[in-house]
Amino acid sequence: VVDIRKFYAQTGAFTYDPGFTSTASCRSALTFIDGEEGVLLHRGYAIGELAERSSFMEVAYLLLNGELPDASELDDFVATITRHTMVHEQLASFYRGFRRDAHPMAVMCGVVGALSAFYPDSTNVHDAGQRLVASHRLVAKMPTVAAMAYKYSIGQPFLYPDNSLSYAGNFLRMTFGVPAEEYEVNPIVERAMDRIFILHADHEQNASTSTVRLAGSSGANPFACMAAGIACLWGPAHGGANEAALNMLREIGTPDRIPHYIARAKDKDDPFRLMGFGHRVYKNYDPRATVMQKTVREVFGSLKVSDPVFDTALRLEEIALSDPYFIEKKLFPNVDFYSGIILSVIGFPTSMFTALFALARTVGWIAQWNEMITDSDQKIGRPRQIYSGPTQREYVELAQR
Ligand code: ACO
Repeated sequence: VVDIRKFYAQTGAFTYDPGFTSTASCRSALTFIDGEEGVLLHRGYAIGELAERSSFMEVAYLLLNGELPDASELDDFVATITRHTMVHEQLASFYRGFRRDAHPMAVMCGVVGALSAFYPDSTNVHDAGQRLVASHRLVAKMPTVAAMAYKYSIGQPFLYPDNSLSYAGNFLRMTFGVPAEEYEVNPIVERAMDRIFILHADHEQNASTSTVRLAGSSGANPFACMAAGIACLWGPAHGGANEAALNMLREIGTPDRIPHYIARAKDKDDPFRLMGFGHRVYKNYDPRATVMQKTVREVFGSLKVSDPVFDTALRLEEIALSDPYFIEKKLFPNVDFYSGIILSVIGFPTSMFTALFALARTVGWIAQWNEMITDSDQKIGRPRQIYSGPTQREYVELAQR
């Protein structure tokens, strides 16, 4: 008979860290976060500067290769990504198997996992060449996959990629264009879209990235690992928060109703939380939220549009940040607080918000996956547990129970 207490006494100490609040699961040279100061760096470059001065393709290259590209490296990278934007024609049949009102994230989980079947060569994860081409395929095809999920959900025909357009421009056209009609990409929206992609590109060992690494640590192929990441991102405490934040702001409606919702967020007996507020790592303003808020202002100004929900958001932030509850718990707006407002003005329904997040985060996921595979310290991810069940006992025959 196993003596469970003795087992733990002999095994030595396990770290009990549910939620991994103080456990580093890996070493990584990709992204640095100082949550106390509100700092986010990719390969040493501040997120604000990258969002302001670079492009998503530059950031993707940076994350995948370690350095910013020079002009010819960038041209080559863009040409490579552009070459891979098409998906196999058979993939369209896969979409048609879903209910017509399927949530785009449900479709993305399935479709991205299914890509493994189209690229069986990607199972050889220890071949650097195969990893590279799988990385390029994933970054290139995600906009096509996401746009197709949207088109399917609204019953419109799929649009093929137009490789004369930019990464963001192509995605906008595949999403909002219709066959046989010219679609003119609005440069302001294109730039905003590109910036939103930059802001979501990577974020250290968040839940979905950790999921991708854990799935990949068993040697699973990258498409399957990305599907695992998409599934994890979907939850409202993670990538689903932008959808939840905008729904919440719309429900609040007008600034005079804010105090009621603040009171609910503070009430321990009410499960309601201010969506888009708080972060496991940031105990200061999320630097991505700063850029996002600025981008909303710029797009509203340039397009001469407005949305009362933005005024509600600004006022909510103001009230929350002067409330002792939020001050004491260090709860600040995170990237999701303002992103929904801008995505909605561009024309995306809330159900697409998390799909867009997945599209952009694919770069970080695949860069992290590559880093993990090539790290000689990496073992299969296999956490232990503190067993809390019964001690060993004798089996009782069914008739005697
Ligand atoms: N509204 C009200 N209270 C909150 C909020 C919030 N948004 N966030 C945290 N709190 C409170 C909790 O009730 C808790 O209080 P307690 O100590 O009295 O029990 C305390 O602050 C700490 O919260 P935890 O949930 O323990 O913190 P954790 O680090 O586990 O959670 C999380 C972080 C999930 C982001 C949380 O702040 C939250 O649920 N926020 C809303 C959802 C959201 O915006 N998610 C997006 C995250 S960013 C991203 O994924 C891109």
